[in-house]
Amino acid sequence: MSLAVAETPSFDTDRAEAFAARVGEILDTGAIAVMLSLGHRTGLLDLMAQLPPSTSERIAKEAALAERYVREWLAVMTTGRVVIYDPARRTYRLPPEHAASLTRAGTLGNLAVYAQYVALMGQVQERTLACFETGEGRRYEDFPDFHQMMAEDSAQTVVAPLCETLLPLAEGLPKRLGAGIAVLDAGCGRGQALLAMARRYPRSRFTGYDLGDDAIAHATAAARDTGLDNVRFAVRDLTHFDEVERYDLITSFDAVHDQRDPQDLLRRLCRALRPGGLYLMQDIGGSAHLEKNLDFPMASLLYAISCVHCTPVSIGQGGAGLGTMWGWETAEAMLAEAGFVEVTRHRLAHDPMNVWFVSRKGPSRDRAA
Ligand SMILES: C[S@@+](CC[C@H](N)C(=O)[O-])C[C@H]1O[C@@H](n2cnc3c(N)ncnc32)[C@H](O)[C@@H]1O
Repeated sequence: MSLAVAETPSFDTDRAEAFAARVGEILDTGAIAVMLSLGHRTGLLDLMAQLPPSTSERIAKEAALAERYVREWLAVMTTGRVVIYDPARRTYRLPPEHAASLTRAGTLGNLAVYAQYVALMGQVQERTLACFETGEGRRYEDFPDFHQMMAEDSAQTVVAPLCETLLPLAEGLPKRLGAGIAVLDAGCGRGQALLAMARRYPRSRFTGYDLGDDAIAHATAAARDTGLDNVRFAVRDLTHFDEVERYDLITSFDAVHDQRDPQDLLRRLCRALRPGGLYLMQDIGGSAHLEKNLDFPMASLLYAISCVHCTPVSIGQGGAGLGTMWGWETAEAMLAEAGFVEVTRHRLAHDPMNVWFVSRKGPSRDRAA
């Protein structure tokens, strides 16, 4: 690749050409990410993990999809080094080592779930352009299938390890849940975490609040289907949350940074806890300082999600738009300001993008918002 750029003493041509090659890689990788999302949504990746090396005709037939499109998708997967193509037999194969991080049954977590966010960014680009031009925000409803994607995301980082790994982060918590306590999940989305806890701890009572009526309808239907009578869900805008000393445990999973006023919400959550009550919070684990995030896992993806979704939905609620990468330092300072004490911070191997805080409500002081 050559560049038609006038040579100047300060212009490093090698560096420019290396960077142009890097841009090419970025474009290629972005395209592969969108196609991974399609592979996840169509079930092609899961199917290929089960099939022996197969022709595009067989793969399409097993998937009940149009062969011409499947073949084109397989070409992306082949040039992207996701699947292996045998030109002599015209067969494609997804190696088990690749299936481990790209399928629903994958042993390393299903990273194809996150590819859906990349596809979503393209889907809402016109609206994002309007945000740049006007400074306006967005509503959750502006993001098609967001709650479904989020539920798939948190099924991996929250629900699967919840009872064995996450609840024991707070000493004695599983025992208290077994004995029977009142629990709130703030910003519960489709409510999977709460449903899992309600199933495991029948003596405890569980409440889930979320702004999204579609998410709450989904959660309510799931509770009804499972026959659980110790869990309830309600549409609630937490901006005005005003319950006092009602819960022994409050949880929020990735549901604070995109609120209108995260600091105010944390104060309200603290107020809603009984004395000695616990707050378990998962949120994005990057630093508040951009320069410290250069090597943070999937930092560019997280900042991009912030630009397209988390920042505009906060602004859309009348907030400042703190952003996805508000930083663990900001979160920790806000927890203390809200009245939480004994704040401990945890990094967990299964969830490298997030940080987990366990906090206790401090001695009573008037922190009414
Ligand atoms: C990133 S999602 C996480 C959902 C869920 N906790 C999970 O892990 O799947 C953030 C959630 O916060 C909810 N939320 C945002 N602002 C809210 C508000 N003001 N009141 C109640 N819920 C809100 C959204 O509707 C969304 O479901």
